Amino acid sequence: MEQLQRSGLAERGHGAWRRVVVEKPFGHDLASAQELNDTVHRVFPEESIFRIDHYLGKETVQNILALRFANTMFEPIWNRSYVDHVQITMAEDIGIGGRAGYYDGIGAARDVIQNHLLQLLALTAMEEPTSFSAEAVRAEKAKILSSVRVPGDLATSTARGQYAAGWQGGVNVRGYLDEEGIPKDSHTETYAAVKLDIDNRRWAGVPFYLRTGKRLSRRVTEVAMVFQQAPHLPFSHTDTEELGQNALVMRVQPDEGITVRFGSKVPGTSMEIRDVNMDFAYGESFTEASPEAYERLLLDVLIGDPPLFPRQEEVELSWKILDPIEEYWAAQGALDQYKSGGYGPDSADELMARDGRTWRRL
Ligand code: BG6
Repeated sequence: MEQLQRSGLAERGHGAWRRVVVEKPFGHDLASAQELNDTVHRVFPEESIFRIDHYLGKETVQNILALRFANTMFEPIWNRSYVDHVQITMAEDIGIGGRAGYYDGIGAARDVIQNHLLQLLALTAMEEPTSFSAEAVRAEKAKILSSVRVPGDLATSTARGQYAAGWQGGVNVRGYLDEEGIPKDSHTETYAAVKLDIDNRRWAGVPFYLRTGKRLSRRVTEVAMVFQQAPHLPFSHTDTEELGQNALVMRVQPDEGITVRFGSKVPGTSMEIRDVNMDFAYGESFTEASPEAYERLLLDVLIGDPPLFPRQEEVELSWKILDPIEEYWAAQGALDQYKSGGYGPDSADELMARDGRTWRRL
C-alpha cells in the first residue's frame, strides 16, 4: 500500500478514481486483519477498498438470496420449527498443488471457512435485508455473524485432519507431508469441520455444520437444509425404512442447481416410501451462461458496485469465530490423517455421530 502511495498510484483527482482489491484471507487472525485494515486505510478510503471473496461472485451463491427472498414457499419453513440442522460442505478433490508457500501454516479453516463458508452461512441464515444495497446486505450479514458461537467445548465441536497418500482419480497421490515445500512435521490441517450455533430466535437449537477438505473423493460445494422428521408417520415401520429426512440442497458447484429431497411412494401394491429428488439444474433451465466469479467481481470493482464485497466488520467477526478454534488446534499439535480420495478424518464423522447425525455423502 505504501509503495502505491509513494509512487503516486493512490492519488485521486481530476475526476479519477482509485480502487484497491484485496484478496482473501484478509489477515490470518483478528489482530493481523485489523493491522492490515489500518495499513490499507492509511492510503485508501473505505469506499475504495474491495475485499474479494470469490464465492460471492458465484451465480449459485447469489441465488441463495433469490431463492429466499424472491419466493414465498421457503420462508415459512426456514427456521428452527422445521429445520433440524444445516450442513455446509466445500469438498475438493485437488491437493495443495504448488501452493505450499501460501498454504502451510494457514490451513483449511483460515483458507476457506473464515471466508467462503462463513459467507455461505451468513447468506443462508441472515434476515431479509431492507434492500440489496451494499449497506443493507452487509448489515444483515454482520448481524448474523455476530450471533454465531461454537457450542460446548472445542474438542467435541471441531475436527481436523491432514491428507495422507491414497488412490484418487485413478492415480496414486502423495500425502500432504510429502508435497513439495511442506515440512515433515507440519501440523497444518487440510480438512476442517466445525459445529456452530446461531444465537437468535430463528436458529436457536439448530446446529450449522461446516466442513471443507482437500483430496476428498470428489469436488462438491453445497448448502443443505435438513428438515425434521414428520412429527407422526401413519405408516408401519417397514413402510418407511427407506425414508430419510427431507432436505433442500443448494448446489453451488460443480452441478449447479437446487435439489429438494422428499419421501415418495414406491410404485406397487404396498405402501413403501423412499426418498426421491426433485432437481433444478442451471444447465437445463437457462440458456444464459454464468459469468466466472472473478469476471463478475472485477467488473463490479470497475463500476464501483460494492454489495458483493465483505466489509471489514464481517472479516473481523469471522476471525472472532475462528481465532479460538485455531488457538485450540495449535495447542493440540499432531492431527488425524485421512486417506486421499476418501471422505475425511474419522473425527469428523464422530463429531456428527455424537449428535446422532451423519454427513451427507460426498
Ligand atoms: C480458494 C482457496 O479461495 O478457493 C483454495 O484458497 C481453493 O484453496 C479455492 O482451492 C476453491 O475455489 P473454487 O471456486 O474452485 O471452489
